[in-house]
Amino acid sequence: MNRKIAFITGATSGFGRATARRFAEAGWALVLTGRRSERLRALEEELASQVPVHVGTLDVRDAEAVKTLVAGLPEGFRAIRCLVNNAGLALAPEPAQKVDLQDWHTMIDTNITGLVNVTHALLPTLI
Ligand SMILES: NC(=O)c1ccc[n+]([C@@H]2O[C@H](COP(=O)([O-])OP(=O)(O)OC[C@H]3O[C@@H](n4cnc5c(N)ncnc54)[C@H](OP(=O)(O)O)[C@@H]3O)[C@@H](O)[C@H]2O)c1
Repeated sequence: MNRKIAFITGATSGFGRATARRFAEAGWALVLTGRRSERLRALEEELASQVPVHVGTLDVRDAEAVKTLVAGLPEGFRAIRCLVNNAGLALAPEPAQKVDLQDWHTMIDTNITGLVNVTHALLPTLI
C-alpha cells in the first residue's frame, strides 16, 4: 500500500473524529480506535469509500490491550507514519479542593498513562 497511514486514538467523537475526516480527505489510510465500537463502525462505513480504514476497539489505559491491538494490525495497516494521541478527557471542572480523587486518577490514567501506552507500542514503527 502506497498511502501513508495514521493511527488515531479517541476517533469516536470530537477532535479525534474530525481529525479522521481530515486525514481521509488528504488520502491517508486510517487506523481508528476508541472504546465505543458502534461509533467506530459508523465512521468506518462513512470513510471506507475514500480510504482504507481499520477500526479497533481500545481502552488506551490498558497497556496489554494496546500492545495486542498494535501487534494484530493487518498487513497494509502496520507501517504507521503518524500517531494522533487524542484520546482523553477533562473531568472535574469544580475547584480542586472539591474534586473527587477518582476523577484525577481517571484523567492521569487516560491522558498520561494512556498516551504513554500507545506511544511506546508504536514508537518502533514510527521511528
Ligand atoms: N474540547 C476542548 O476544548 C479540549 C481542550 C483541550 C484539550 N482537549 C483534549 O482533546 C482531546 C479530545 O477532546 P474532545 O473535545 O474531542 O473530547 P471528546 O469529544 O469527549 O472525545 C474524547 C475521545 O477520547 C476517547 N476516550 C476517552 N477515554 C478513552 C479511553 N480510556 N480509551 C480510549 N479512548 C478514550 C473517547 O472515545 P470513547 O469514549 O469511545 O472511548 C472520544 O473519542 C481530549 O484528550 C481532551 O482532553 C480538548
